[in-house]
Amino acid sequence: MQKLSTAASLFYAVAVAALATAVIVGGEAAVVEQTFVVHEMNVTHLCNTTKIYVVNGQLPGPTVDVMEGDTVVVHVINRLPHGLTIHWHGVRQMRSCWADGAGFVTECPIPPGGQHTYRFNVTGQVGTLWWHAHVTCLRSTINGAFIIRPRDRKYPFPTPAKDVPIIIGEWWELDLLELDRRMLDGNFDDNPLSATINGKLGDLSNCSGTVEESFILDVKRGESYLLRVINTALFSEYYFKVAGHTFTVVGADGNYLTPYKTDIVTVAPGEAIDVLMVADAPPANYHMIALANQPPEPDLQIPELNSRGLVRYAGAAANNGGLPVAMPVMPNQHNTMPSYYFHANLTGLARPERHRVPMHVDERLFITLGLGSICRAGNTTTCKRGRSPETIVVATMNNVSFHHSNATALLERYYDGTSEGVYTEDFPVRPPRTYNFTNRDLIPPGPLEAALEPTSKATRLRRFKYNTSVEIVFQSTTLLQSDSNPMHLHGYDVFVLAQGLGNFNPKRDVNKFNYHNPQLRNTVQVPRGGWAAVRFLTDNPGMWYLHCHFEFHIIMGMATAFIVEDGPTPETSLPPPPSEFKRCGTNGLSQP
Ligand SMILES: *[C@@H]1O[C@H](CO)[C@@H](O)[C@H](O)[C@H]1NC(C)=O
Ligand SMILES: *[C@@H]1O[C@H](CO)[C@@H](O)[C@H](O)[C@H]1NC(C)=O
Ligand SMILES: *[C@@H]1O[C@H](CO)[C@@H](O)[C@H](O)[C@H]1NC(C)=O
Ligand SMILES: *[C@@H]1O[C@H](CO)[C@@H](O)[C@H](O)[C@H]1NC(C)=O
Ligand SMILES: *[C@@H]1O[C@H](CO)[C@@H](O)[C@H](O)[C@H]1NC(C)=O
Ligand SMILES: *[C@@H]1O[C@H](CO)[C@@H](O)[C@H](O)[C@H]1NC(C)=O
Ligand SMILES: *[C@@H]1O[C@H](CO)[C@@H](O)[C@H](O)[C@H]1NC(C)=O
Ligand SMILES: *[C@@H]1O[C@H](CO)[C@@H](O)[C@H](O)[C@H]1NC(C)=O
Ligand SMILES: *[C@@H]1O[C@H](CO)[C@@H](O)[C@H](O)[C@H]1NC(C)=O
Ligand SMILES: *[C@@H]1O[C@H](CO)[C@@H](O)[C@H](O)[C@H]1NC(C)=O
Repeated sequence: MQKLSTAASLFYAVAVAALATAVIVGGEAAVVEQTFVVHEMNVTHLCNTTKIYVVNGQLPGPTVDVMEGDTVVVHVINRLPHGLTIHWHGVRQMRSCWADGAGFVTECPIPPGGQHTYRFNVTGQVGTLWWHAHVTCLRSTINGAFIIRPRDRKYPFPTPAKDVPIIIGEWWELDLLELDRRMLDGNFDDNPLSATINGKLGDLSNCSGTVEESFILDVKRGESYLLRVINTALFSEYYFKVAGHTFTVVGADGNYLTPYKTDIVTVAPGEAIDVLMVADAPPANYHMIALANQPPEPDLQIPELNSRGLVRYAGAAANNGGLPVAMPVMPNQHNTMPSYYFHANLTGLARPERHRVPMHVDERLFITLGLGSICRAGNTTTCKRGRSPETIVVATMNNVSFHHSNATALLERYYDGTSEGVYTEDFPVRPPRTYNFTNRDLIPPGPLEAALEPTSKATRLRRFKYNTSVEIVFQSTTLLQSDSNPMHLHGYDVFVLAQGLGNFNPKRDVNKFNYHNPQLRNTVQVPRGGWAAVRFLTDNPGMWYLHCHFEFHIIMGMATAFIVEDGPTPETSLPPPPSEFKRCGTNGLSQP
């Protein structure tokens, strides 16, 4: 530990020096350079010391803080005994797909002891994004905020006194690499022990009388705070509230929103929501709560997860004047409607250059999201279903469970024209069979799911010509479970035209499409037992991963990738890999 920390601190010193010299102050675009040393660290929570995986000794990891138009250079040094990549979640990576950091999709993982430099520009985006490890469950502790400030320093809302990332995550006692192996084997019975806010479990968690630390936000009366609420959790969507305060939602996923007043923020894994909170309550202490929601029974239940923090006013009486600290009134953890209303009520703040919804559609996809099962090798003859040990539970899109490569990167194969035997380009544009997708009787103990559960694994992608207008309707199903599905598309923001509950019905539902001011999102929360319709133009060539951001869903195969072909000119084509890009080696890791 001591040795590692010394080595690591040396690297932070280098990183800080690089940052200080690299940032050119002023109106000009700058090169922002940082070094991430990924290493193991022992931490103690709830009477147990566990090994976790972190960047630069920090949990959450270091914030990347840039201005629109800057060039970002991050040197990642891997001191883990395991390969990993870092994904810049939500960064559009215009013509820089090579730097997207999606393991086995755009690059092979950085080997133990290896390093890799990510270099990309941040253009046309302002607000909050984040970064995280993109191989296995390591992203639970290897993550941080990615903040993009407007170059002219002007916001379309009153400038906040201070801005504060609120990173909602989970505390896992189980080793994350072991968790990964278990999920790949169809096991989703493991749970985190607690939710966290900025790495703190909060004072509702204790063990043998030792109370866990809470995240504390210090405020001054009358000032406004920009809370950048990011969900980095592997498992759950969260409700976030602060007693005695309301929020104005002003942005999400690096795009401005029409200001929306609410007393609750709901944030699914992968989403980043910017909210203003004015400290306008009488000076005192107020609790904040992050509470995970989950579908009610008959869905599989996990223990209630929460983290409690504190908003502390300057000048408040010591010990809150002996009075109890106000608690926010939270929704029932089984009520998922606040999430539906929150997401359906958001609209984009018109920026004419960005809000040009394609009015015609070249290609339409209807994609069902659910679970299924495959037979274990050797058990193909009997292959009893219903979570029998003869099958492995998998997750699907249009009844295909994505087979993740463990040996090569799809982008490399596409670019080299060597995709044969690695992937096919026939991801289905609609489910092979129609059924009542949201029938509650498809959740075990059923009985209707038995006939619909069998599925198969394959690496099936979809290929689009440059400048194609694509519409996708995502349909959450109740096949084996009724979770929502936060769907994340790399390299793009998509217009969210509408969302609804039940089965999508084109005759009725296209009338609800908002072409005027839809939100632009990289992560679309497809409601539990409902649907969401999105549209985007294929203006960014490359290999772009599309997946649910619930970790067990992605590992189990709720994923695919979109190939976007080059356009007619160099400006519309993916350049060759940069010289510092490292190709895959024969061991499934990038070459040193
Ligand atoms: C964590 O603790 C274990 C057991 O005490 C020890 O073997 C290991 O070296 C420690 N790891 C670090 C990174 O400090
Ligand atoms: C970033 O932008 C600069 C200036 O426009 C350009 O020269 C450079 O090639 C871009 N880099 C990448 C990685 O796209
Ligand atoms: C501590 O955590 C480990 C997993 O990292 C687990 O195997 C062990 O049972 C835990 N011990 C206690 C006392 O909870
Ligand atoms: C510790 O947690 C238990 C519930 O898990 C609770 O009943 C108890 O009051 C807590 N103790 C302290 C000191 O917070
Ligand atoms: C917006 O939220 C309110 C409840 O807070 C709800 O009544 C309304 O239906 C929501 N709007 C949409 C479009 O879902
Ligand atoms: C087939 O499944 C049974 C459990 O039903 C298990 O005991 C057996 O080992 C499996 N056979 C193989 C070859 O995996
Ligand atoms: C589909 O299932 C839902 C929930 O079980 C039910 O309310 C609905 O009526 C069904 N729809 C059709 C068309 O059967
Ligand atoms: C899913 O695909 C499998 C083949 O992999 C097929 O047997 C099954 O009928 C399909 N199920 C549905 C619901 O389309
Ligand atoms: C994209 O297609 C539209 C017509 O659908 C055309 O007007 C436009 O010029 C095209 N843009 C590019 C960059 O090819
Ligand atoms: C990939 O996984 C297969 C088993 O599915 C295994 O046999 C193979 O060794 C793995 N390859 C690498 C490079 O890890």
